[in-house]
Amino acid sequence: MSGETKARGHLIEIRDMYKIYAVGGEPVHALDGVSLSVDEGEFVAIMGSSGSGKSTMLNILGCLDVPTKGSYLLDGIEVAARSRAELARIRNRKLGFVFQNFNLLPRTSALENVELPDLYMGRLGRRGRRERAMMLLERVGLKGRESHTPAQLSGGQQQRVAIARALMNNPPVVFADEPTGNLDTKSSIEIMNLFTELSNEGITIVMVTHEDDIASYAKRHVVMRDGKVMRDDRDDGGARKTQDEVARLVKEALA
Ligand SMILES: Nc1ncnc2c1ncn2[C@@H]1O[C@H](COP(=O)(O)OP(=O)(O)OP(=O)(O)O)[C@@H](O)[C@H]1O
Ligand SMILES: [Mg+2]
Repeated sequence: MSGETKARGHLIEIRDMYKIYAVGGEPVHALDGVSLSVDEGEFVAIMGSSGSGKSTMLNILGCLDVPTKGSYLLDGIEVAARSRAELARIRNRKLGFVFQNFNLLPRTSALENVELPDLYMGRLGRRGRRERAMMLLERVGLKGRESHTPAQLSGGQQQRVAIARALMNNPPVVFADEPTGNLDTKSSIEIMNLFTELSNEGITIVMVTHEDDIASYAKRHVVMRDGKVMRDDRDDGGARKTQDEVARLVKEALA
């Protein structure tokens, strides 16, 4: 243990977090006192039935929304009470996003969609930006499709553009909310293989899914119900869980 005097904190750490929506009558506790930490390089699936708070949790982790109360340390920085402008800056620098509906700009080429995060950042300059976007599109298997608009791409291809875009600013974390929700089985497997590659390269992935086969690619399974974490299960170096094992784990957690 020589040298290492200071223990490294978690990449993501939320403590006693609440998100309470007041719409009409009864307040909704979308998150009801959740604590969770994620370390660098983890591949986490957040599971649970509809309305259990998965997207709410992911949106807060991704700095797209703020909690009603609780603490959120991202890479050692408290982000729970930041302004919208500050959150936008943090998102752009540290976080990548992949959504169920791809969220690509229509009438805009694949290449330009991928370049976008650096247009806001302006780190690379015009030429560097183009080179990196070309490289990322090639890496997700879309060489030759650079000038296609989203409408000229299949769903799986659009999601690959979205993944390339998520990687543009080289973020340590990628958040994905039902990334295969709109894809057929073959495209879903391709997307999950891509996530597995990213995970093997050390990128932290936090993914919401309610599909057992998709969740089986992750190495840790967090199961939610009514805004609470019911189960938090790690593979701990063992073999990947099968779809059946994930299904059993979720069933037990929600029993
Ligand atoms: N903007 C909002 N205003 C009011 N209530 C909301 C809002 N967003 C979510 N909720 C409520 O919070 C709870 C959790 O919603 P959330 O979207 O996080 O669920 P989920 O687990 O992602 O569900 P699904 O699997 O259907 O996507 C639900 O009861 C939902 O109705
Ligand atoms: Mg959701």
